[in-house]
Amino acid sequence: MKVAVVYFSQTGVTAKLAGAVMEGLGSHDNIHVTEHRINGTEIFEGRFRNQPLLDELNGCDGIIFGSPTYMGSVAAQFKAFADATSDQWCEQLWAGKLAAGFTCGSGLNGDQAATLQYMATLANQQGMLWMGLDLPKNDPREINRLGCQAGAVAHSAHGEADPRDLDTARYLGERFAKQVSRLKGNS
Ligand SMILES: Cc1cc2nc3c(=O)[nH]c(=O)nc-3n(C[C@H](O)[C@H](O)[C@H](O)COP(=O)(O)O)c2cc1C
Repeated sequence: MKVAVVYFSQTGVTAKLAGAVMEGLGSHDNIHVTEHRINGTEIFEGRFRNQPLLDELNGCDGIIFGSPTYMGSVAAQFKAFADATSDQWCEQLWAGKLAAGFTCGSGLNGDQAATLQYMATLANQQGMLWMGLDLPKNDPREINRLGCQAGAVAHSAHGEADPRDLDTARYLGERFAKQVSRLKGNS
C-alpha cells in the first residue's frame, strides 16, 4: 500500500506534525510512505508545477494533506498545489482513495477547523473518502485535546507544536494506516 503525506510548512510546526503522522503510518507493516513538503520554488507565476509528484500521487492508495492555518484557511502554497490537481478532478483519478488532514495555528482556536474543512472539500471534489478522528475531547491521553473530529489540529504556542497535538497527529497516522489497509481488503 502506498500513502503520501503532502504539506506546506514555513516555520517547521506543520513539518513536525507531518513527522508524527508518518510515525503513526509506520505502525503498520506494508505501507510505503511518500513525503512531499511543498516548496515555493514549485510555484511559477502563481501555478504549482510538479508533474512527477502528481504522477506519484495518482498511484497512491491514500493521501494526507497538511498546511498551517493562514487567515482561516490553507496557506496559499498549499492552495496552489490543490489547484494544480484539476486534471485529477477532470478524470476523477483520485476517486476512492482515502484522505485526511492536519493543521496548526498560533491561536488556541484560530479557525484551524476551517482549514480542515477546506481539505475535506478538496477530497470530496476528488471523489476521495475523508477520514477524521474517532476521539472524544475527554480522551484520557489528552490526544485531540482541542476537540476537532475533522482531523489533527495543533496549537503552535511560541512557535512550537504542543506534544499532545503531536500525539494527535501520530494517532491520525495510525488510524489512517488501519483504514487504508481495511479499504484495500488487507485486514
Ligand atoms: C500569513 C499568516 C496567517 C496566519 N493566520 C493564522 C490564522 O488564521 N489562525 C491561526 O491560528 N494562526 C495563524 N497564523 C499562524 C500560523 O498558523 C502558525 O504560526 C503556524 O504554526 C505556522 O506553521 P508552520 O510552522 O508549519 O509554518 C498565521 C501565520 C501567518 C504567517
